[in-house]
Amino acid sequence: MKIAVIGGGSTYTPELVDGFARLGTTVSELVLIDPAAERLDVVGAFAARIFAHYGHPGKVTWTSDLDAGVTDADAAVIQLRVGGQRARISDETFPLDCGCVGQETTGAGGLAKALRTVPVMLDVAARIRDRAKPGAWIVDFTNPVGIVTRALLDAGHQAVGLCNVAIGFQRRFAGHLGVDPGAVVLDHVGLNHLTWERAAYVDGVDRLPDLLGAHLSEISDMVDVPAEIITMLGAVPSYYLSYFYKHDEHVRESLGQRTRGQRVAEIEAILLDMYRDVTLTTKPALLGERGGAYYSEAAVGLLGSLFGLDDTAVHSVNVRNDGTLPFLPDSAVIEVSARAGLRGPDPLPVAAVPPDLAGLISHVYGYEELALDAALRGGRDRVYRALLAHPLIGQHSRADALADRLIAAGREHLAWA
Ligand code: G6P
Ligand code: MN
Repeated sequence: MKIAVIGGGSTYTPELVDGFARLGTTVSELVLIDPAAERLDVVGAFAARIFAHYGHPGKVTWTSDLDAGVTDADAAVIQLRVGGQRARISDETFPLDCGCVGQETTGAGGLAKALRTVPVMLDVAARIRDRAKPGAWIVDFTNPVGIVTRALLDAGHQAVGLCNVAIGFQRRFAGHLGVDPGAVVLDHVGLNHLTWERAAYVDGVDRLPDLLGAHLSEISDMVDVPAEIITMLGAVPSYYLSYFYKHDEHVRESLGQRTRGQRVAEIEAILLDMYRDVTLTTKPALLGERGGAYYSEAAVGLLGSLFGLDDTAVHSVNVRNDGTLPFLPDSAVIEVSARAGLRGPDPLPVAAVPPDLAGLISHVYGYEELALDAALRGGRDRVYRALLAHPLIGQHSRADALADRLIAAGREHLAWA
């Protein structure tokens, strides 16, 4: 199998390569594709050393030519970041002036990211469809994953959105329970970066109550959500829910602080220096300071299922709703647990969702639909409308001021602005 990684020059890539090197034996070629040629050379050469280190028989290649790179690929993993960390840092700061959280995927920052990313993703996906093998899968890690996956599916692409939040919980819960990670099946529900773990089944028995009994304060610290909310819901929200449950605290704490993007830019510079060292053949510990833990295992596992090698494993994926959550339209893209095979993911049935979760999911879903419309068709009015529809914004004065700031900050990436 030939796998193309678009955005392959990312400092994250060694994480992915490590996963393929250790687990992905069916990969005959891994091609890393990135317009940033210099960085790609560094990451590509390091990736080849990782494959060699593990004795993986597949070859690693790299190119800045997207069309050549995706030719005859069996699958493409897309993990690009339009505008790099600079645009991310802008997303993390401009909303703060209006009293709103500054985050790369949640709230106004997430909208800014969607607007500049969706058109690029559609172009990349069209080029993949023209040149990759017929039926090649797109696995999308590009944020905001829910909106981007919806755009890809609406355009007729064979795509699945993936995020490492669920696999992170699965690994952690398995560690607490002393079982194999694959033995833990999560009842994971919501939209990308707006999910809750409502159960953790091992051999058909929900062990989440035991986990909360023994590890509540640790879990609460990990997701930065008050323990009383977790107890009340009987479910573990992802840490992205903390931007909702503790919104004003996040805004207060961010003021005058360095953003995550600034810290990441520093880590990236150090990582690239490390990758230049030809004696380095395994991913360095510093990579663990990035948020992408286990994303390689999520990707390798899902691709294995999509290639028809394992139809029993459960993955948390972004897919069409098609009735799984009855309170959302069939066309919505949701994030839930699913098995997968050659024909794609097949969500597990989802138990009734309580009103507080369903309400917030519906509210953010409404925003996401409007965000996609703004990304596809542009225009300040559509940007304003999406902002007003977001539960963390919701007021005229804020949406109005944010629309101006978002467009001013993002203009270089917005063809219509
Ligand atoms: C998690 C999220 C990703 C996000 C990443 C950010 O992995 O699931 O969607 O891109 O965190 O990590 P970073 O190190 O860039 O802050
Ligand atoms: Mn994610």
